[in-house]
Amino acid sequence: MRSLATALLRQMDPENAHAWALLALRAGLAGRDATPDDPRLAVPLFGRTVKNPIGIAAGFDKNAVALKGLAGLGFGFLEAGTVTPRPQPGNPRPRLFRLDEDRAVINRMGFNNGGIAAYTQRLAAFTPRPVPVGANLGINKEGADPEHDYPAMLATVAPFADYVVINVSSPNTPGLRDLQGEARLAAIFAALPRERPPLFVKLAPDLSRPGLEAATDVAIGAGAAGIIVTNTTISRPPGLRSPHAKEAGGLSGAPLAPLAREALRVVARRAAGRLTLIAAGGIATGADVLERLRLGASAVQIYTAFAYAGPALIPRIKRELLAALDAARLRDVPSAIGTELQ
Ligand SMILES: Cc1cc2nc3c(=O)[nH]c(=O)nc-3n(C[C@H](O)[C@H](O)[C@H](O)COP(=O)(O)O)c2cc1C
Repeated sequence: MRSLATALLRQMDPENAHAWALLALRAGLAGRDATPDDPRLAVPLFGRTVKNPIGIAAGFDKNAVALKGLAGLGFGFLEAGTVTPRPQPGNPRPRLFRLDEDRAVINRMGFNNGGIAAYTQRLAAFTPRPVPVGANLGINKEGADPEHDYPAMLATVAPFADYVVINVSSPNTPGLRDLQGEARLAAIFAALPRERPPLFVKLAPDLSRPGLEAATDVAIGAGAAGIIVTNTTISRPPGLRSPHAKEAGGLSGAPLAPLAREALRVVARRAAGRLTLIAAGGIATGADVLERLRLGASAVQIYTAFAYAGPALIPRIKRELLAALDAARLRDVPSAIGTELQ
């Protein structure tokens, strides 16, 4: 039944399919993974123990409307957003494209969301939280003041979030990615309240190596808990086959994996154990998860592979991860972290 629904959704316009998937999750119709997680999957994260290292990436539940349903699917943690101070409609449709032949997606949604006030109400109502929930924060397209907006939003969501993400890497808000530069990033961090949940910054895979290293240094200097590596790429790796490959926007899924992996390697080497790293970008199998753990990530996030495969992906990845740990003679998830990082 669930795989039939997933197959039907794949025939629809991708944005409509996403809206239906959110509705099904809200209505409790997307199913549940009731199997308790193997204790070897548990990992310390956000100052507690998370039952498995697989999270839903930002952008799937921008308005925090489907947290209960997502938690029921077996994710170890959730991230809601990106949310902006004021509601905004985002870019004109079509703005979401499936690249089936490439197992990829291009999106130029442009932070369509209902604003921080409604978002925070929903976050506050999601209690007790069965798994940690992160709040991913961005800025409006019009009238933004990052050094004011990020601190104000952080203060609003802080009581209801287990971690907070400063998103400075989405490609569809003009000027946003410039905030990844050393000076701007440091200015934003300096303006944030001292009392706050663990703080992460989310980076683009398109930063140069020195750019990634500088951002890592700023994060360490500002007392951030960690970095999410990475967001979507504005590049178009050679070999894309889908007719949609030239659409403007951020590319995610399989072709992003090599870029995201290299960015993780650079950030992990620079951080040298001083930050918690969360990997994202083209992760679709348990072997992919283990690879990122070995490169220094403590956990991973998934969007595109989940959009293609549906809820069955999560239990499958967990089974594959346990098998991959066994094959590599690694005891558990924590003992895999950073083993390939020289
Ligand atoms: C349709 C879509 C919307 C997204 N929206 C956001 C967003 O609002 N904020 C954000 O930080 N990342 C957003 N992302 C990026 C994902 O969180 C993730 O970093 C990226 O897609 C790489 O992971 P994946 O290859 O598993 O999809 C979005 C991705 C997609 C495909």
